[in-house]
Amino acid sequence: MSQTILIEPNENLRKLFSINLNTYAATDVVPRENATDAIALLSILPSINLIVAKSQVGSEQTAIRIYNFLKEKNLQIPMIILGECRELAPDVLTLKEPISWDVLVKHAADILCVKEEEVKKKSQPMFVALESNFFYDIDHTPCDVYIQIKKADNSYQFVKRLRAQDSFTKEDIEKYEAQGLKYFHIPKDFEHYFVTFVTNNLIQKLEEDEVDFSIRLSLNANAYEVVRDQIAKVGLDESMHTLADTCIRSMVFTIKEAPTLANLLKQLFKNKISYAYQHAHLVCVIGHFILLRQQWYEPKHLDIFTLVSFFSDITLKNPEQIQVNTMTELKASKLSNEQRQVVLNHANDAAELIKDYPNYNKNIEDIIRHHHGSLDGFGFPEEPNETVHPLAKIFIIADAFVKIMLAPHTPKNKKEILAILYAQYPGQSFQDIIGVLEEKIA
Ligand SMILES: [Fe+2]
Repeated sequence: MSQTILIEPNENLRKLFSINLNTYAATDVVPRENATDAIALLSILPSINLIVAKSQVGSEQTAIRIYNFLKEKNLQIPMIILGECRELAPDVLTLKEPISWDVLVKHAADILCVKEEEVKKKSQPMFVALESNFFYDIDHTPCDVYIQIKKADNSYQFVKRLRAQDSFTKEDIEKYEAQGLKYFHIPKDFEHYFVTFVTNNLIQKLEEDEVDFSIRLSLNANAYEVVRDQIAKVGLDESMHTLADTCIRSMVFTIKEAPTLANLLKQLFKNKISYAYQHAHLVCVIGHFILLRQQWYEPKHLDIFTLVSFFSDITLKNPEQIQVNTMTELKASKLSNEQRQVVLNHANDAAELIKDYPNYNKNIEDIIRHHHGSLDGFGFPEEPNETVHPLAKIFIIADAFVKIMLAPHTPKNKKEILAILYAQYPGQSFQDIIGVLEEKIA
């Protein structure tokens, strides 16, 4: 395989050009920071086949310095200059900015004698689907983005909709959603890089201090969805640990700042936040009401409770799965057998998942495993076990309250909801927790 030195200081462009040069022009890309680095490499590796260099890096005349070095050493290595360079044009191929990766790849392939048919053959990359919410908190993407269109013969075609570096807003994405679009597609080679790009953007925004409450809610919700999606695809890896941790800290912050319950509900619905996040957030808010009235309460309990709310249903994809709270509801649901099995085992699955978490401790595992009242994290016992972890008991009541509150055809009046809970959880410790909640919200 040929070798190409690439000097492009913009990280996103560097990645975009590297992957595409490698995929379509079949060349091994060696990134270098500036002319000094490139010259150092050329001195020991004069067999490089192509140099793609930014005209200028900072105040350095990068392209001119490399060109002079090649002349001086009599090295016949072709160059492509990114950006204007009047001194060397037209002797050296110069591409005017902004440079599209396909134009760069075409020139590189010509120079490296990669046949056009080969480039074309390879230019149908494998695509992966990403839910549209991945695009809410970024204003450009590090790669081209496609939509999938069904053709008359029922086959599918991918059409480019956003070019790498094109800027867009959340409203632009919502316009696609209004037309029924749920997924965008990106080349598979970019999947990991794209997710890291989105994750870093979210972390940066979540860590800002002065964020409007409703924007913070929406950032939390998007971070939650990204973590959920990635856990399903690749598991709880290091970047998802960081994103989950940042999101949990932000949730704790929002819960401490919480407006009234009615206002919070308005915000959650106004921002079109997913059911999964609405549920996780409200369980924290209700749980916090109860926690604050416990004699043993310490702020760390809110941190633990929020982490549990974040992870307890993270393996459930479908809102119908999250809504289930009893075996009767599970039987009455329209879920497939496979989806039901996931629901039955989700407390255990989440408890196992959390064992890989850096802030793991056995208490957290127990609370997650017990969050539907069984000690082994399986199913929905008619009456929760009295020996489940005390925080799990609070979680069970908060969870039941929120599920009734969010369900479309159930009582919305707090008193009616409390009456249902008193009847559903006759155990003394649960009656006491419901009593505490009643004192707070009645
Ligand atoms: Fe659950």
